[in-house]
Amino acid sequence: MSSRIFEDELTASTVFKDMNVLSPHYVPKELPYRKNEIKQVTKVMSSVLLDVKPLNIFLYGKTGTGKTSVVKTVLRELELVVSDPLRNKSGMLSYGVYMNCRLGYNSKYQILLKILEDHQLNTDKISEKPLKGVRNNTLGGRSPTELYAKLQKVVQANALHLIIVLDEIDMVRDLNDLLYTLTRVNDQIEPVKIGERNRRGSVSIIGISNKHSFKNALDPRTKSTLLGEEIVFKPYNANQLKTILANRVREGFKKGSISASNIGLIAAFAAQTNGDARYALRLLQKAGEIAQSNKRKRVKKEDVQTAKSKIEEDIIHELITTLPEHQQIVLYAISDLVLRGGQYRRLSDLPGDILFSGEVYEGYEKVCKSLSRNPRTMRWFGEYLKELEMLGLVTLSLSGSGVRGTTTLIRLGASAEEIKKMVSISLGLLFSEKSIK
Ligand SMILES: Nc1ncnc2c1ncn2[C@@H]1O[C@H](COP(=O)(O)OP(=O)(O)O)[C@@H](O)[C@H]1O
Ligand SMILES: [Mg+2]
Repeated sequence: MSSRIFEDELTASTVFKDMNVLSPHYVPKELPYRKNEIKQVTKVMSSVLLDVKPLNIFLYGKTGTGKTSVVKTVLRELELVVSDPLRNKSGMLSYGVYMNCRLGYNSKYQILLKILEDHQLNTDKISEKPLKGVRNNTLGGRSPTELYAKLQKVVQANALHLIIVLDEIDMVRDLNDLLYTLTRVNDQIEPVKIGERNRRGSVSIIGISNKHSFKNALDPRTKSTLLGEEIVFKPYNANQLKTILANRVREGFKKGSISASNIGLIAAFAAQTNGDARYALRLLQKAGEIAQSNKRKRVKKEDVQTAKSKIEEDIIHELITTLPEHQQIVLYAISDLVLRGGQYRRLSDLPGDILFSGEVYEGYEKVCKSLSRNPRTMRWFGEYLKELEMLGLVTLSLSGSGVRGTTTLIRLGASAEEIKKMVSISLGLLFSEKSIK
């Protein structure tokens, strides 16, 4: 007897019509409230249609403000124009390579490799004929210098306008070197005769980052070669999020499965969390999943609330499991001390969930010992605390000068039980509870 478990699974869907449109990788046709940003990026990129190198562009803004979607939208349009002889009057070649530097493309070498591989795989997208100098060559095992030479050759020989999108650019380890290299290509490209005309290819960069400050870490030399447009993306407000969500509900949910007021509630929650559209869509999807797992046809208000706490837990979990080991150990020591009331609590009139950095350092040393790790110095410990604060996992403050002198006070940003549980699992439960007491 043939089972129909797959078909049953599909027809079992009570609320969703199309789950794909809720994925963070889906780029909708319309991006409301981002017309200006699309226009600005398009304006800069449009110079390739005149066979002129576009300026570099840098897009900044908090997560979920539509930076990636805007760039992908413009590149998609550009590809359509370039591949259509009726629209591409000058017959120029242009090609955009997108990569997210967080996902493995975090060194000059990986990035050069990706750019060249993308060409090999996609040459027919930009030209009927294979590009000169790219086919029948393997790239693996080549040195960065060889890859660079190849890149220059490909861009020059084809008079190609190459647009390199570096999403989450602040994750690149040798960013100075990379940017310097990529901008320098332009000085080394010679014009070539194609048909009747002399043409010159170019390399432009679209950099995307959540951190406006990432540029501070660059050499002045690199900074000056990077001159270009800067666009800052503002967070969405609750009303804007509501529209964005309502559009997605129309595409992805069955009719009548979620009310306008519940969409409004999701929008309000997301507006409080930095106006992050990705978070809003995640809430929407989770609420739908909860309704569905309860075999209901409608999303209830409680589903939205449950979705919110589930996602908050997931977010903290993701944060914790991707932390470097020593920061996890510091977090463990903090949550453990909070649960035990803090060693020095009796000496102070501080509430029990506020700890002195000294006692936390001692706790950290103990946990390190039971894990057979060498504790880092106080200075490193201070750095770890700062990193944890940036992620919102702890808050730091200075005590007023008192019996114990001025010291850093530490408070956990989420439930100590939850954090302790998550870190223990993440650290692989390498030690037993008793051994560190
Ligand atoms: N204006 C918008 N209209 C519709 N969906 C949007 C809009 N802005 C962002 N999104 C959606 O929100 C999510 C995050 O957007 P993204 O472009 O990845 O943001 P960022 O790159 O700034 O973090 C994606 O799923 C995207 O489809
Ligand atoms: Mg992005």
